[in-house]
Order: sequence, then C-alpha cells, then structure tokens
Amino acid sequence: MTTQRGMASGRFSKDSDPLFREINDSLAFDFRLLRQDIQGSIAWARAIERAGVITASEREHLTSALTDLAALAEEHPRAAIEHPTTAHAEDVHSWVELELIKAVGDLGKKLHTGRSRNDQVATDLRLWIREQIDQRLSEIRAAQQSLLDLADRELNTFFPGYTHLQRAQPILLPHWCLAYFEMLDRDAARFGDARRRVNVCPLGSGALAGTAYPIDRDALAKDLGFDAPTGNSLDAVADRDFVIETLAAASLCAVHLSRFAEELILYCTAEFNLLELDDSVTSGSSLMPQKKNPDALELIRGKCGRILGAHTALCTTLKGLPLAYNKDMQEDKEPLFDAMASLSLCLRIVPRVVSTMNIRRDACQAAAAGGYSNATELADYLVGRGVPFRDAHDATGRIVRRAIELNVPLERLPLSEMQSISPTIDNSVFQALTLHASVARREVHGGTGPGAMKVALSAARKRLA
Ligand code: ARG
Repeated sequence: MTTQRGMASGRFSKDSDPLFREINDSLAFDFRLLRQDIQGSIAWARAIERAGVITASEREHLTSALTDLAALAEEHPRAAIEHPTTAHAEDVHSWVELELIKAVGDLGKKLHTGRSRNDQVATDLRLWIREQIDQRLSEIRAAQQSLLDLADRELNTFFPGYTHLQRAQPILLPHWCLAYFEMLDRDAARFGDARRRVNVCPLGSGALAGTAYPIDRDALAKDLGFDAPTGNSLDAVADRDFVIETLAAASLCAVHLSRFAEELILYCTAEFNLLELDDSVTSGSSLMPQKKNPDALELIRGKCGRILGAHTALCTTLKGLPLAYNKDMQEDKEPLFDAMASLSLCLRIVPRVVSTMNIRRDACQAAAAGGYSNATELADYLVGRGVPFRDAHDATGRIVRRAIELNVPLERLPLSEMQSISPTIDNSVFQALTLHASVARREVHGGTGPGAMKVALSAARKRLA
C-alpha cells in the first residue's frame, strides 16, 4: 500500500515509470483542493457511519484526525506539496488518505469504503468553485461600487459618446459608468445562475454506478451545504458542465473588463487625452523617460485571452469523452484555477484604477461638443418645426457640410448660412445646439438625461446594497 504505487498497488507487479508519474500525477496543481477534500472526507465519514460501515467512535477518531489535517491546511495551504508523505501520492485525494493512515493507522483505510476518487474529485471541485464564485461575486460588487463612486464624482461631466470610434452624441460620464455597471450586473447574475447548478452533491455516486452502501445522500448533501444530491451517478462523475459554465461566466466578465480596459487605454493617450491614470497603476519605460504606460489595463485586456482559452480548452477536452470518468478530465483543473485567479486579479485592480484616475473634465467637455456631435439635435430641432425627419436629416447633413467648409462648429455657423439651406431655422437653434440641451432632451428611461441618470444611479445603488 505504501509503495510508490500509492493507493492502488495490488494489481501491479511493477513500479510505474517515472515519466508515467510525471504525466499522470496531479498533486502539483490539485493540492489547491486540499481544504475541500478534507471537508468532503469529514462528511463522508459521517455518511458511512450513518450507513453502519464504521462505528461512532471510529468516525470520531477519523474526524479528529481530519480536523487536524484541516488545521494544517488552513495554516499551510500548500502542505500537500511541501510536506513529504511516507508514500507516493499522485493527487490530493491520495495525499489526504495517506496522511490519515499515517495519523490513525488501519482505521484510516476504512474511509474510502464506498467512495471513488471519481465522485470525490467532482465533489471537491464543486466545493471549490462554489467558494470561488462567491469571491468573484463580491469582487464584481466592489468593481461596480467603484464605478458608482466615479459617477458620483463626475455627476455633471460631459463625455463624448462614440459609434465606430467616431464622435457620435454627447453623454454624461455617469452614463458611461452605468453601462459597465450593467454589464457587471449581468456577469454577477450569470455567476449566480451557474452557482445553482454547481451546488449539487455528486458524493455517493461511487466510481460510476452509485455506491453499494446505504448512504443517505440527502443528509450527505446537506452536511456539505449542497442543495441536493445529483440525480444520476453516471452523469455525476462525468459532468464538467459546471466547470464550463463557470468559465463561460468568467469569460464574458473578462470580455467586459477587456472592453473597459481598452476604452481607458485609448482615453489616456495623448491623442484622446480625456483622462490620466495614476502613477500607482502604470509603469515607465526602461528606455523612454517620458513614458507612462497603462500596464494594469493592458493586462486586464491580455488576461482575457487566457480566460477565454480556458473555456475553449475545457469544451474541447470534454466534447469527445465517452461516459463516465476519463483521465482527460484531470485537465479541467489547471485552466480553471488559472482562469479564476486571473479574473480575480482583473476584478480587484479595477477599483484601484477607477478610484485613482483623473478625469480631464475640460477636455471631455470639448470632445463631447466637437465632431459635429450636435448634428442630431439640429435634425430634431427641424423636426420640432414640422420638417419630416428624413428631410431634416438631409438638410442637417448639408448644413454640416457647409460648416466643415467654413471650418466652424454648427453652433458658430452664421444663422444666414443655415437659413439658406433650411429657411425655417431661427435664432432659437443655438440654444438647441448646446451640450446641456442635447443631454437634457434624453430623459427617456435608460437615457443620458440628467434626471433619468439620477434615477438609474439610485436604482444601481439599491441593487448593490
Ligand atoms: N486526479 C484525478 C482528477 O483530477 C482524480 C480522479 C481520479 N480517478 C481515477 N479514476 N483515476 O481527475
């Protein structure tokens, strides 16, 4: 039992090839499941006691040894790779079992009765993901909060709204903040939805056919904080949908953060010059002394690629697998661990970037006003004077063309020039062409009008609270 073959030695007359161990072993990365593996084992001890496999005092003995191991894991999360075991442990499950046997002797060998590493690893992973989702949710909330804080600081700041990266219509900066708030809100909802399907208990499924012992799976699920036991043992050990779903939620969240990062990267360039990032989240160049690079944002954008890759990797790994467990599935962990850690970092840096950046309000206002972004207002002004929209659009286009020829913004074009194209225009047009008038007209639900936005902001604050 304690040969380098680890837990399954009897069947084999030969030691395994060192290179086989290198490809086969997962302890180097699945040690991250140590806490969950111990948690699952404590619950399993209780389950087999209830089933009459071990006595109450045996269960107590096992539980106290496992609790000691849990304390060790709490203090040294890397214990499984840093503490050598007496025998070869190929994965975290073997490590825990070997340590248990080291601590309590032969009794430790009873714990695995009726259990398989197949239902064990599926359980550990669900416990791990559940915790991770809860952490991502609170990180998303903190990122959303930082956007609301920015909105509060810049309540009256105009900002250029773009389509095709061409200036389109002026908006208020809080409106932009709320756009990302909404995206993150959907991300949180997706994580929450995934969590419901994560939170079921595969333990008791055995290797694939269901355990042969009279385990009360409802009680076991409850002990581990799961909503219910899984419904089919074959599916329970083969299913990694919950990993993929979690990675899908992570991917979309990362895509949102990447778009956010990309916008800020653009806006802090000399070409846009709408904002300045704080020194604390930027780096210099080793050669060019003037440089201040938006590294944190570039890495948010960059890590998005890794996270999408993890999702693709898992879909690809799973798509050709016959039921039930196959060792390919061991490949689920590294991408998952990496993606969740990467997303966590990205989410946690967002509030640092947002709370420290300096918005150049004057530049934002000038950009919002420039680029003929009030042309729609002129068309709407004409509509207000009875001109059908298509004709108003056409006349406005011609007026814009004339303004470009004269190299002036619309609001500086002499009234006579406008009137020569559309005689219905009078002096009141200049009021309609101001930034204030433009946003003030958009009080529709979901619009950038100052009133609508205040409503949206307070709704957003309520959603966070
Ligand atoms: N280390 C394995 C994994 O991560 C645990 C399950 C092993 N099961 C088996 N039948 N070999 O998937």
